[in-house]
Amino acid sequence: MLDTISIEKQVREQLSTINTESDLNALRIKYLGKAGAVSELLKGIKDIEPSGKKAYGEMVNALKNNVEAMIEKKTAELASAKITALLENAKMIDLTIPSQGEMGSLHPITVTTQKIVEIFKSMGFVFEQSNEVETEFNNFEAVNVPKNHPARDMQDTFYLSNGQVLSTHTSSSQNRVMKKYGAPLKAVFPGRCFRNEELDASHENTFFQLEGMVMDKNISIANLVYFMRQMLQSVFQKDLQVRLRPGFFPFVEPGFELDCSCIYCEGKGCKVCKQSGWIELCPCGMIHPAVLEMGGVNPNEYQGFAFGLGLSRLAMMMYNIDDIRVMNSGNLKQLKQIKIK
Ligand code: FA5
Repeated sequence: MLDTISIEKQVREQLSTINTESDLNALRIKYLGKAGAVSELLKGIKDIEPSGKKAYGEMVNALKNNVEAMIEKKTAELASAKITALLENAKMIDLTIPSQGEMGSLHPITVTTQKIVEIFKSMGFVFEQSNEVETEFNNFEAVNVPKNHPARDMQDTFYLSNGQVLSTHTSSSQNRVMKKYGAPLKAVFPGRCFRNEELDASHENTFFQLEGMVMDKNISIANLVYFMRQMLQSVFQKDLQVRLRPGFFPFVEPGFELDCSCIYCEGKGCKVCKQSGWIELCPCGMIHPAVLEMGGVNPNEYQGFAFGLGLSRLAMMMYNIDDIRVMNSGNLKQLKQIKIK
């Protein structure tokens, strides 16, 4: 007569002495492995008289299920004991202890980005992050800069072996954002940009821009000018004048360079604005119909404007930083002199 009860008892006794996963595994193999005790019993069904096969099979299967359940329970117990031990041994961090060293602070570009994005959100804009690594198509073709177009020379960058590029401007996210939201749309997307540049006080190889797009029916240059002025007044909390000069960007038609009256001298002329009274801040223009079309927006129904604010340069203006290279230098001596407001 098959004594499944004493096998179950044996397993229970052995399990009660086990404390490690490897011992538990050895026990699993001993009973449930290919040549394990329970598996051998299952194989033995072939030697049983036909009339007894059903009862025998049921008994061995019940034994197998019970042994499996006991091992499962022990597995859970060991896992939970492991976590408890880890927690008990872990050194707890007391967040209330005052800092022993120096306090860090947010980077001027981070603070500038946060402030600007808040202003745009209050005007009902959706926010997206511009990609740092982009497809060549989104960075160039989708903004009307086909292969071999001379405009590519001004935005030389790293081409990755998978066909992508390090984004040279936040305009590279225009296509993705248009396809995601469609029109009408008000969106801003800040991000890090990379270019092969001759470095100087106002040119870095890694810098930040903030792209904005407004698309709706009957949008004109008048909307663009009014909007840009409002936006800059909110940023600088001053009544600023803006002026447009013609500027060429293949993805806008017409395209402009937008200058604002110098925030330092209020247009009188100083060394920051090189005595001109104006600061060049933000290229912009009416979105080219081909760009709208590539983004899935019907140019016969919708128009729009786009702008590319130089965030790094804006941060320089907001925090009186006279050399852009300070911001990426990691030079704490210089960075600490910037007073974050
Ligand atoms: C562009 O990048 C266009 N994508 C902007 C645009 C968007 C035009 C939408 C029209 C419509 P540009 O190369 O001029 O344009 O750069 C825009 C701003 O980024 C500049 O005004 C400047 O503030 C900043 N910028 C450009 N290159 C650098 C650099 N090397 N270092 C720091 N800031 C830079």
